[in-house]
Amino acid sequence: MHGITSTLLLATGLIAGVAAQQGHGSDTTDMGPVAFMWPEDRAWNAADDNVGPCGSKEFAGKRTDFPLVGGSIALNIADPAEDVVVRMSFKNNPTSQSDFVDVISHIDDIVEGHQCYPIPASKIPRDAEEGTLATIQLEYWAQEAGKKKESFFACADVRFVPASKMTTAVPCFNVTSEEFATQEEVVLKNGGKTSGAGKVAAGLFLAAAGTVVAAMF
Ligand SMILES: *[C@@H]1O[C@H](CO)[C@@H](O)[C@H](O)[C@H]1NC(C)=O
Repeated sequence: MHGITSTLLLATGLIAGVAAQQGHGSDTTDMGPVAFMWPEDRAWNAADDNVGPCGSKEFAGKRTDFPLVGGSIALNIADPAEDVVVRMSFKNNPTSQSDFVDVISHIDDIVEGHQCYPIPASKIPRDAEEGTLATIQLEYWAQEAGKKKESFFACADVRFVPASKMTTAVPCFNVTSEEFATQEEVVLKNGGKTSGAGKVAAGLFLAAAGTVVAAMF
């Protein structure tokens, strides 16, 4: 009873939780249009999030263990964004844009929901080892209500570990708010069963939940 059921509930709760959170949009005070869901980003502050390289006055402090091979970043997307670039710095405390190199050079458009992107292994320096420090930078363009389009920054500070030593489950899945809403509607209408037109969206939702569950073992 304990294992699978509680894990499924946890996964579903996780998705429901983040979906509820992203309903706020970027005009609230807890996140910009896009934020890291994993690894954890530096404290967010509306006054700083258009200032590079990290959109935060904080320095690298708290670090998340990040696998040397097969690492991904998971994003919370509250408002549509474009021209997304992911960069990494292998300095202990990067302070300038020139400290970073591109690891995912261009993602055109992203919509409300969640996206998870693998970091190509070729972008991690060969001499990186357990304990090597790095900072992952996210830069993107978005338009907040009543403002012109601006570029935004966020950083997540990590410490490399061998993949075999990872102890946390990475919430890595892709689902848009629209797919999530369709699934909720279908479940409510059918008293818990899914059928008909909702099947495709429900499948996507379950695939997303499945990915989270799989990542937990
Ligand atoms: C999510 O979508 C991106 C872009 O299409 C893709 O690169 C990535 O592998 C997908 N992630 C998952 C977990 O399916």
